[in-house]
Amino acid sequence: MTHPVAIRFVETELDDLAAREGRIAVLITPEGKLTAASRRLDRLTRGAVARAVGSPAWGKLKPGEGMVIGWPGGLAAEAMVLISLPRKASLAEARKAGATVGKVLDEKGALVIAENHPSAAEIAFGLALRAYRFDYLSEEKKPFGPVSMMVAHPEEVAAKAAPHAALAEGVFFTRDLVNEPANILTTDDFAARLAAMHELGLDVQILEEDELKDLGMRALLGVGQGSESPSKVVVMQWNGLSKPANGDAEEEPPLALVGKGVCFDTGGISIKPAAGMEEMTMDMGGAAVVAGVMRTLALRNAPVNVVGLVGLVENMPDGKAQRPGDIVKSMKGDTIEVINTDAEGRLVLADVLWYAQQKFRPRAVIDLATLTGAIIVALGHENAGVFANDDGFAQDVVQAARAEGEGAWHMPLQPAYDSLIKSRLADIKNTGGRWAGAITAAAFLNKFVNSETPWCHIDIAGVALPPSETALSPKGASGWGVMTLDRLIRDKFEA
Ligand code: BES
Ligand code: MN
Ligand code: ZN
Repeated sequence: MTHPVAIRFVETELDDLAAREGRIAVLITPEGKLTAASRRLDRLTRGAVARAVGSPAWGKLKPGEGMVIGWPGGLAAEAMVLISLPRKASLAEARKAGATVGKVLDEKGALVIAENHPSAAEIAFGLALRAYRFDYLSEEKKPFGPVSMMVAHPEEVAAKAAPHAALAEGVFFTRDLVNEPANILTTDDFAARLAAMHELGLDVQILEEDELKDLGMRALLGVGQGSESPSKVVVMQWNGLSKPANGDAEEEPPLALVGKGVCFDTGGISIKPAAGMEEMTMDMGGAAVVAGVMRTLALRNAPVNVVGLVGLVENMPDGKAQRPGDIVKSMKGDTIEVINTDAEGRLVLADVLWYAQQKFRPRAVIDLATLTGAIIVALGHENAGVFANDDGFAQDVVQAARAEGEGAWHMPLQPAYDSLIKSRLADIKNTGGRWAGAITAAAFLNKFVNSETPWCHIDIAGVALPPSETALSPKGASGWGVMTLDRLIRDKFEA
């Protein structure tokens, strides 16, 4: 498991800059106004800094972007990174500035000179989020070197930065899970990694196939029945609110987070084309976000009750696999005609959503899933699709995402779409045809949610594993949603 780099905050001390190894990064305003530190670096490099910020290229940098000057004369450092950042930077701009350093970090480490910049803690967070790597190269890379950040008031900044550590750990946990190939991250392995979070104070329970059968989760079990890997539901409880002193008093109902955990999605008998199928190792991305958020809540000892539930299955073609045309009975009791075995995520979620509501009577439910290719057609890789049975709830989620710099867009969910998922033989069918594919998927899920329970569905198919690097993550899993949900929980659910 990858851990974020630890960043030390120290007093600004410019005397021995010339001898520093690794990378030296310094913040300069977009107008090119040099600070004490950048003036010192300019003198040591015989004017390289002033020439760089006077160049046309400097003016083209967006806030948070930088220029890397290699092997600068007059410095022992391998590189000097000049970062363009206004004094009044947005949160996303400040994090981007840190990411500019995180992106070029190596085993030699870095010194970031932030002086008295008001966003120093956010800069550090961006650096930590971008300094992530995940690979199976046989030649091991050396670990990242130490990072220190020079600031005007180290203790103050360290206090502001402290809550970010739990968040970065959660994001990295999610990214690792999404990046893992399916021969490593089987349903058993996934469940074991979640069970290990017991040591953080989470109560983790694993429901095995026989228990799922007893509960009547035939929709979920049907998806996994062609796989050698056993289907499971894992329940992670974080009870951050102490039980009411009065023994009779009810415990505060939790927020329930539900995740699609398809460890590999071949499509099943409705098999997917070969091109790009390898990407379906990420089809457990919803479950990974739920796991990452639970990890963050435990690490920061959040004063809130949240239960995370993930349905872990593998969708394989096999002699025992579910067929198109099969009719299954869900835990709710509704029958489902399986038109296409590749629309499996909604079958898994139908049962986990119902179980979450029956078992925990949650105050609200949020599910996350790499549910449809259609959401990528609609929104690309910039925004997750947000659906809800309550417009206010959807707006809260979109607001939280915006505050964290993660893209999210409110999508429609109206009864008019229900006719598309009417079945000839069963209560409902699992596909709605060509049009509005992300919406009919959401409409399907809606049938398994009590209308009095505030519910939000987030389709993360486009954002969980974007095709190129993002502002805060290298190419590969983004960890989208951990920051958004942590923010939402803080702002809307904590006492
Ligand atoms: N896991 C896929 C959705 C997906 C596609 C996620 C691309 C990430 C990237 C899902 O199970 C699926 O196959 N959906 C089908 C539904 C269809 C058969 C109704 C789809 O979107 O094509
Ligand atoms: Mn599928
Ligand atoms: Zn899928």
